[in-house]
Amino acid sequence: MKRVLVLTGGGDCPGLNAVIRAIVKRASQEKDWEVVGSIQAFNGVLWEPTEIRILDQKAVKGIHYQGGTIIETTNKGGPFEWPVKDNKGKWTNVDRSDEMIRKLQFMGIDAVINIGGDGSQKISQKLYEKGLNIIGVPKTIDNDLSSTDSTFGYQTAVQIATEALDKLVTTAASHNRVFGMEVMGRYAGWIALNAAIAGGADVCLIPEIPYDINIVKEKLESRFYKERGFGIMVVSEGARPKDGTMHFEQSDEVGYNNLKLGGVVHKVLHELRQAGLKVDMRDVMLGHLQRGGVPVAYDRVLAAQFGVKAFEMVLNEQFGQMVAYRHPDIIAVPLIDAIDRPNLVTLDNRIIQTIKGLDISLGADI
Ligand code: F6P
Repeated sequence: MKRVLVLTGGGDCPGLNAVIRAIVKRASQEKDWEVVGSIQAFNGVLWEPTEIRILDQKAVKGIHYQGGTIIETTNKGGPFEWPVKDNKGKWTNVDRSDEMIRKLQFMGIDAVINIGGDGSQKISQKLYEKGLNIIGVPKTIDNDLSSTDSTFGYQTAVQIATEALDKLVTTAASHNRVFGMEVMGRYAGWIALNAAIAGGADVCLIPEIPYDINIVKEKLESRFYKERGFGIMVVSEGARPKDGTMHFEQSDEVGYNNLKLGGVVHKVLHELRQAGLKVDMRDVMLGHLQRGGVPVAYDRVLAAQFGVKAFEMVLNEQFGQMVAYRHPDIIAVPLIDAIDRPNLVTLDNRIIQTIKGLDISLGADI
């Protein structure tokens, strides 16, 4: 019997279960393959005792529409940066990758499918360079991975943000208020731009285009006083003022190396008051609501396509590669290319023309 190990790494994302199910269903069509899952990314392999779960048809029954991941995930640590306490009680990282590869051999694992975002795929590439038979599957609500037209989870996040905006519009109109709604996306403004279009926002601030608070104020004033009597602004969590920096916290969680973004919308509203905007304003941070709950149909289908393709890549021994969507195909791309640079919004992207055509201000003279 041959064995493929599946794991989910990084922040969770709607559609992870649909990928896992598709891998298992496709693998079950082969007589000689078994699928096992590692709990909490590679932790399940590295822990003593290990936490590995058999993923058969029964284990994945009906999970295609469930949010989260049945094999859990983590965005801390990893085989190359495993946190340990030294004898002075200070946390340091140790590299356990060689030990992990040996453990995988001992466990009879023939191939690994790593479902994760940019951080997880960087780990996949490093493990591939060490000889591991590994394949990547791109996941993230942020849609910031290059080499693929889209990642699953992203459309669900846009849908959740749009539905929230629809709700804010009714209360904003009833109370004659300006609402700022913060969405996720890390360094990429895709969720913000799409939600702003779908939800009919007046302003959209994204990390790639630093904003000028006076331009934002003028736009909201004009929409409020001359046009609709309220205002709606979408703020991406990575938005930053021109001549300013992103708003973030350093995390004190052990093994967490990411900047903790979130809360910039409060800052933007404060800046608007200081700039002289006199209307009533409220803010909302959608946060992790965007990552929870059931995936929309589009994400379930993309996830299913990725899962089937990932297993077929195992059969074809296309290791060191990542599944990708390049319309209309699902293809394999080298992991090294996928992690080379993030997929950020550029000014020449058609979506910027659409935003401008709809008279949504990006808070900058562009
Ligand atoms: O990358 C996905 C994402 O949801 C980002 O949009 C957000 O900045 C980050 O993860 C939040 O991570 P955490 O779950 O660690 O708070």
